Amino acid sequence: MRFGDHFMEELKARVRVSDVVGKSVKLKRQGREYAGLSPFTNEKTPSFFVNDEKGFYHCFSSGKHGDAISFLMEIENLSFPEAVERLAGIAGMDLPKADPQAEARAKQNKIAINWMEEAQAFFAKSLMREVGREAREYLKSRGLTQTAAERFGIGFAPDSFDALRDELLQKGADIKVLVEAGLLIEPEDRTRQPWDRFRNRIMFPIRDPRGRLVAFGGRAMEKDAKAKYLNSPETALFHKGRVLYRYPEARKSLVAPNNPARGLIVAEGYMDVIALARAGFEQAVAPLGTALTEDQLDLLWRAGPEPILCFDGDKAGIRAAFRSIERALPKLKPGQTLRFALLPEGQDPDDLIQAKGPSAMKEVLDSAIPLVDMLWTREIEAGPLNTPEDKAGLKDRIYAALREISHDGVREQYKTELLARFDSEFGWKANRQQGRGGNNWVSKKASPQMKQNMRDGAMSESRERRLIGAILEWPLLLESLDETFFSLRFASDSCRQLQSAIQSYFSTTKAVDKRSLHAHIEHIGLDSHLKKFSADRFLCVAAMGGNDATLNQREAIFQQEAAAHMGQGQDERVESETRSRLVDSIYENNTDALRRLMRASRNDR
Ligand code: CTP
Ligand code: MN
Repeated sequence: MRFGDHFMEELKARVRVSDVVGKSVKLKRQGREYAGLSPFTNEKTPSFFVNDEKGFYHCFSSGKHGDAISFLMEIENLSFPEAVERLAGIAGMDLPKADPQAEARAKQNKIAINWMEEAQAFFAKSLMREVGREAREYLKSRGLTQTAAERFGIGFAPDSFDALRDELLQKGADIKVLVEAGLLIEPEDRTRQPWDRFRNRIMFPIRDPRGRLVAFGGRAMEKDAKAKYLNSPETALFHKGRVLYRYPEARKSLVAPNNPARGLIVAEGYMDVIALARAGFEQAVAPLGTALTEDQLDLLWRAGPEPILCFDGDKAGIRAAFRSIERALPKLKPGQTLRFALLPEGQDPDDLIQAKGPSAMKEVLDSAIPLVDMLWTREIEAGPLNTPEDKAGLKDRIYAALREISHDGVREQYKTELLARFDSEFGWKANRQQGRGGNNWVSKKASPQMKQNMRDGAMSESRERRLIGAILEWPLLLESLDETFFSLRFASDSCRQLQSAIQSYFSTTKAVDKRSLHAHIEHIGLDSHLKKFSADRFLCVAAMGGNDATLNQREAIFQQEAAAHMGQGQDERVESETRSRLVDSIYENNTDALRRLMRASRNDR
């Protein structure tokens, strides 16, 4: 959007940089300038200066420099037009309008939003009054304090057909506007007055990406309510596929100097987003009861390159994850991907945080798997893989998925990666039997023996990583397996270094506490190795029998793996079959999906 030079000059003249900056940085007058702590770094002494006369700020610790607009772009993670719009709001200026029709619409929208804000104030007030007592108790039972309710703007719509209507009419609202805003329901025959849409519900305010209050979500309190959630209808202002719950706040939190997250977290529900934000994951958002739309994906990527989608680890959750792959593939490009975090079956983030605290949630997020892993899982999940025809079918599916990726470079990389996986899972066995050379995985010039060695090397490396990963995840295994583990010889440097770090920790402390073990490893400077492992954690856990396996079962699997590692290459096939049976027996009562995920983890990575 072009705003025109005249407008821009006027805008910059009207607001002082210090007023804009002062909203988020504590400024102290220092001669002609203001000084404060840099909002871009974590400094202790002020090196951030604002000069109103010259109309700019300068940050010596980060080297950043700019005017009020660039400040808003940086600090609120806004685009240029968004920042101009925000600044115009602060200055009390209207944006230049393209045509009279648009101008009229903008005016109407403004009025509607104003009444939405009034409604929000009414709901908040009702929550604190006598009528809101039950609602307060409900919130308390879900672990939400009064301060939390205030922070998230949660309110209560009384059990009445006219409470909100009468309040707003009395304040001067036009009843038609309230109907159009979705606050009231008008009967089709129009014989009666419109009545309150939201009754006896906990109210969550929903803002659009520009921060305007455009809708409400209302949750019933009784367990057997007809609709657990009732959202505002689609209106001139509210299109649910273009909004994410708490997007403006979440997007803003990503640019805070100490937030290491690479993107937003996407949960399913309002309560999840609130639980996540309270647990320190301010960057959480949720769609409004539907699968992610393309517009919503764009919103996610506008905020950060690598959003994490959270799904329930059950069948429905995994299917939902697969659906979002479908939407994402055509839009992938460098710096624009997704990761997937699978929660323990039957739990949403709210449940998990209530039951096990923020650290459990952090583990789930840290072990989120990349899109390519989820895609591979989807393709091997889609059909049987026993006959040559089955395997050819898998290859067709892989090619079909590749065709969905529009970006050439990304498609090329996915192709390399997926075909390598295909070959290492299905290609080489066939090749070994038939004594023919493979294609993509190893160069055609390599001798059959070389190829075999390379494959054994890759196999053993993924096994090494599983062995180390298991100890990192469950140090308790060391109590019975210490001798086995410390006598293993690892080929890769990082595995060797980690093994000796674990040994020095264990031999001095005799402790088997995960947190202190990891702290020790970080302390001796191996944190980058540790990070790599935590990225693969989900797959390692799955290969070790999943979260529900018993200690005995894990020990047995570990022994199998260790034995296979030591006797490497002797009779690989028999060993891996024993192991598969063992792991499968643990999963007997679990879903196919998990079993397949686990199978994917056995695949060389
Ligand atoms: N939803 C909806 N209408 C429903 C049920 C759900 O719009 N009848 C949407 C809401 O946005 C809700 C989300 O889907 O937040 C997830 O729903 P669900 O998983 O059923 O509920 P939770 O978010 O877990 O809510 P709660 O913890 O309050 O039960
Ligand atoms: Mn829930």
